[in-house]
Amino acid sequence: MTHEHWGSRLAFILAAVGSAVGLGNVWKFPYITGENGGGAFVLVYLLCIALIGLPILIAEILIGRRGQRSPIRSLSLLARREGASPLWGGVGLLGTAGAFVILSFYSVIAGWALSYVFEAASGAFTGAGADEVEARFSALLASPIRLVLWHTVFMLLTVVVVARGVRAGLERAVKFLMPGLALLLVILVGYAATTPGFADGVNFLFRPDFSQLGTDAVLVALGHAFFTLSLGMGIMIAYGSYLTPQTSIAGTAITIVILDTVIALLAGTAIFPVVFANGLEPGAGPGLIFQTLPLAFGAMPAGALFGTLFFVLLTFAAWTSTISLLEPTVEWLQERGNRRVPATIKAAVPIWALGMVAALSFNVWSGVSVLGRGLFDLLDFVTANIMLPLTGLGVALFAGWALSAASSREELGLGIGPGYRLWHGGIRYLTPVAVVVVFLYNLL
Ligand code: TRP
Repeated sequence: MTHEHWGSRLAFILAAVGSAVGLGNVWKFPYITGENGGGAFVLVYLLCIALIGLPILIAEILIGRRGQRSPIRSLSLLARREGASPLWGGVGLLGTAGAFVILSFYSVIAGWALSYVFEAASGAFTGAGADEVEARFSALLASPIRLVLWHTVFMLLTVVVVARGVRAGLERAVKFLMPGLALLLVILVGYAATTPGFADGVNFLFRPDFSQLGTDAVLVALGHAFFTLSLGMGIMIAYGSYLTPQTSIAGTAITIVILDTVIALLAGTAIFPVVFANGLEPGAGPGLIFQTLPLAFGAMPAGALFGTLFFVLLTFAAWTSTISLLEPTVEWLQERGNRRVPATIKAAVPIWALGMVAALSFNVWSGVSVLGRGLFDLLDFVTANIMLPLTGLGVALFAGWALSAASSREELGLGIGPGYRLWHGGIRYLTPVAVVVVFLYNLL
């Protein structure tokens, strides 16, 4: 079997970072931090990233490079080679289902970002106050037609890239757009530092107050660690299968984690000062960045330009993530004998339809609740907080127990030094126990 490889370690890092950095960092991290009590939540989240996210990221890349197949097949092949049950491939199946559902609502939010490119460019935010910005956002949510339209446009953008094969465009996009996004976030932090809310915002984000920690905050933090690193659905297995044999997996994984975390913390630092300076509610929910950043753009010099650029870059960041979210379903349909283009369309149409549910949950179906959650909330909760961690648990158990130490040591190439032992101990005991404890804690 001939199998292509990334042109370089940089190319792999860029693709993986392109998948990891997305709405999760700029949209979701700030709003769940606002809802779950600020600094204490950030601390729990960082612990989840370091103790659970990083070892699992390493495990996924390792499985992919050793298996040299799609997620489901890499798992079943390696399992067979180690004398374990090929049913381990089922872990990959759960992950694929997660990607399917996440993409449906992710595309709706990406549609908001896309529509804000035009709002910002029209100069609508210049000099606008909090009420006006909020009214514009509410008007977007209240319109089923606009939400469905932007969601449709975004799905089409994703389909066009995935149908043509991912790599060429992706590498180029990520190389320029990610540094651009980081730069704009730094500019926004610079603006935030000039507002009277800066000290409050920074305190909120970085000074843990455990009395403020929300009830299911630990589960939310765990789920987000998976969401933001694109773990728990085999993306990193698929990308890892293209990694050249010489590259250090651990070093690459650490780079990805650091870049992803820096972007999220920058976004938080840009947003919360604006929240406090304008007397807004940190726990405003999914609309948080759409209600705060326009205020910053409206008040800063050349704000229309920066605002437009920002939402363009956010759209691209979301785009490189939706591409990676569509890929597992398409790959699976291809393995079932479909050609690339029909496979892409067959995957995208039902995802698009499910996305309608997410879009309508903000207006027509805003009163509908299932298990005490609105429909959008339900899709997000079930995927991020249940499916991703469960798949991650499967990956950890596989890498720690089914895969022999000789295999994982050889693939990681860390020798018998402390680095390998640390990872191996973590993936065998700490990671699975932590995931299970968090689950039980939230069930009881
Ligand atoms: N990581 C992306 C973000 O933070 C979302 C994403 C892309 C994702 N691919 C994924 C999440 C795979 C889980 C699994 O926005």
